[in-house]
Formats: sequence, C-alpha cells, structure tokens
Amino acid sequence: MATIGFIGSGKIGGTLARLAVNAGHDVVLSNSRSPQSLQDLVAGLGPRARAATTDQAAADGDIILVAIPIRAYRQVPAQPLRGKIVIDTLNYDPARQGSVPEIEAGNTPPHELLQTHLPESHVVKAFSTVFFRHLATLGRPAGAPDRSCLPIAGNDTAAKRSAAALIDSLGYDTYDVGLLAESRRFAPGTPAQLAHLDPVGMFTAPGRPVTAADLVKLLGEVR
Ligand SMILES: NC(=O)c1ccc[n+]([C@@H]2O[C@H](COP(=O)([O-])OP(=O)(O)OC[C@H]3O[C@@H](n4cnc5c(N)ncnc54)[C@H](OP(=O)(O)O)[C@@H]3O)[C@@H](O)[C@H]2O)c1
Repeated sequence: MATIGFIGSGKIGGTLARLAVNAGHDVVLSNSRSPQSLQDLVAGLGPRARAATTDQAAADGDIILVAIPIRAYRQVPAQPLRGKIVIDTLNYDPARQGSVPEIEAGNTPPHELLQTHLPESHVVKAFSTVFFRHLATLGRPAGAPDRSCLPIAGNDTAAKRSAAALIDSLGYDTYDVGLLAESRRFAPGTPAQLAHLDPVGMFTAPGRPVTAADLVKLLGEVR
C-alpha cells in the first residue's frame, strides 16, 4: 500500500482519494486554500486520509496526483517532487478553466506542460479521459469482463509501471500509449477521451465501460 499525495482535491482529486482509501492506501489531500478547508472531506474519507499544505502533500506522497485547473500549474511545488512519480490528470479547457499563455503561443503542448514545469519528476499522464462520476462507478476487480482500461503515457518506464500498479488497485486496467508526447492521442476531444461517455445521458453515471480492445481501436483513430 502506498501514500498518495494530492495537489488538488476537487471533483477528480476527491473521487480518486475515495477510490484510493477504499483500496487501502493512505491519502494526503491539499488544495489552494488551507488544510482546514478540507476537514469535511477528510472526515468523510476516514482514518486513512489527512489534509496538509501542497508542499507537505508533495513531500509525504510516494506517488503524487495533480488535479488542479491547468492554469495554476506553476504553483505545483517542484522541489519536494524531485525524483517522484507525478500523475498528471490535467486537461486544457481554456473556455472553462482559463487560458495558459505558453500553450496559446504554441510553445508547449498542454499535455507536456506539467513535465516541463517538473523536469526532475517522472510525470505520467492518466485519468484525463474519464469524467469523475464515471471514475467513481466504472472500477471493477481485476479480470472482470467489463473492467475498463485507461490510457497512460510518460517518458519513464518504471514510473509508468508504478502508476499502472496503483491504477490497477483502484479498479482499472491500463494501456501504455508511449511517451508523454503520445498522450495527444487521448487529448480532449479525441475518440479515446470521449469513450466512457454514454450517448444517452452523456455525463450521468455509471458511464460506459471501455475495454483494452476498444481503447486500442479508438487510439488508432488519431495518427
Ligand atoms: N472533473 C472531471 O471529471 C475531470 C476529468 C478528467 C480530468 N480532469 C482535470 O482534472 C483537473 C481538476 O479538475 P476538477 O474537475 O477536479 O476541478 P475542481 O473540482 O475545480 O477542483 C480543483 C482542485 O484544485 C485545487 N486547486 C486550485 N488551484 C490550486 C493550486 N494553485 N494549488 C493547489 N490546489 C489548487 C482546488 O482547490 P480550492 O478549492 O482550494 O481552489 C480544488 O481542490 C483539471 O485539470 C481537469 O481538466 C477533470
């Protein structure tokens, strides 16, 4: 079992914290305000959860999950994350979350922004393709026929292996798409990113399971 540090504890962070606690991991939650502002969430998650500052969550986690609006990426603390595995859930949605000048200028692709900010960390892109309500309901035990498979990407093979083990413990298979740059194949608006959305009732739970075979086919639609 691992300690997962959370930078951002909203819809996606809070959902993943619940899955992690249910799987027997410890979680350290942080947000943009204060540990005190997370007391209700922590109380609901039980004794495996605690709240901290972002620096402390980064320092205490064996693996760190970043789940903040991408425009705030510069506030992710680089120093305590040196050498660590950082799971990047971020999607670029300027209309709803605000724009990022270096993305708009074409200097950095959105999916590489966090790794650029954390050059000494091992960033693995994951969970960016699944709506938080579906994430809460689609998890299944290993081997279940309707277990969903999530795409991951990153530049460090060992980090991807560790991330995959964590994701497996949360109820999902993973498919390694390749280097971080290849995560463009599951970027916002691609078939793989939209796969869990049920055409009937798009954002309502439980969402649509996506097997590894489905996912490989959808990823192949982006060249
Ligand atoms: N929602 C989804 O279904 C979903 C699915 C896949 C990927 N994503 C991606 O996941 C990320 C988070 O989305 P969300 O829907 O979970 O957003 P959210 O519900 O608005 O939660 C954002 C969290 O980030 C925290 N935060 C904001 N600025 C911060 C900073 N500078 N330092 C530390 N924490 C900060 C917020 O804390 P405060 O409340 O204190 O400001 C809050 O806990 C986004 O990039 C989104 O594109 C979301």
